[in-house]
Amino acid sequence: MRILLIGDVIGRPGRDVLAAELMPLRDRLGLDFVVANGENAAGGFGLTRSIANELFATGVDVLTTGNHWLDQKEILNFIDDEDRVLRPLNYPKGTPGRGASLYQTRRGARVLVLNPMGRTFMDALDDPFAAVDVQLSACPLREGADAIIVDMHAEATSEKMAMGHFCDGRASCVIGTHSHVPTADAQVLPQGTAYQTDAGACADYDSVIGMDKFEPLQRFTKKMPTGRMTPAMGPATLCAVFVETFDQTGLALRAEPVRIGGRLIPTSPSV
Ligand SMILES: [Fe+2]
Ligand SMILES: [Fe+2]
Repeated sequence: MRILLIGDVIGRPGRDVLAAELMPLRDRLGLDFVVANGENAAGGFGLTRSIANELFATGVDVLTTGNHWLDQKEILNFIDDEDRVLRPLNYPKGTPGRGASLYQTRRGARVLVLNPMGRTFMDALDDPFAAVDVQLSACPLREGADAIIVDMHAEATSEKMAMGHFCDGRASCVIGTHSHVPTADAQVLPQGTAYQTDAGACADYDSVIGMDKFEPLQRFTKKMPTGRMTPAMGPATLCAVFVETFDQTGLALRAEPVRIGGRLIPTSPSV
């Protein structure tokens, strides 16, 4: 199976690069399933119904989120009924929506997507490792799912790497999001799980993690907010991780970074 996990889509430039590039990429790489992190898709903060629909129309199958999942309160109007949008998995019991769900590809393969969120330098949540363990035990690779995709939304590289090893051999891939900068450590871990610490973002990289650089520089240099953070509006780079799995085991054959458009040096797997 061929899977793409796309990093945080930031505002209009992020959505535009998906609209321009994702359908051709789906065809060229023969993708079976595409996950994108949508937590910053609405003006940099959260996700609305119309923007979720816009992203599905570009070729995204499932939208994960993270700490910004609730920035647009209207998500509460649709997240209970919209199976294709996940919120972080390890929220308290009774939180609207879901952080894990089982999907079918167009060819009928079963794909489990998990969206845990880290706790290091972030809000105190339930244990993401325990929450992932519950899901992997309830729906193991092969018996329950032909592929298992883990979007580990976390600040600390160490916590993301730990989640990779925690899932090694039990998930098809563990890919980090939230840092908005792609890391150069794509690999298949020893027991067969594809891993990259951060997928990067779909954002204008003439920015501070996707945001117009003026306001972050004000805050860092003057310690005084002067206005709102808004997305940088130049052409975005699509950043993602491509994962190919063995059909028999659901484990990874390879993991490769994808970067298309904008300012970053382009790279794309050969197929
Ligand atoms: Fe983000
Ligand atoms: Fe985040």
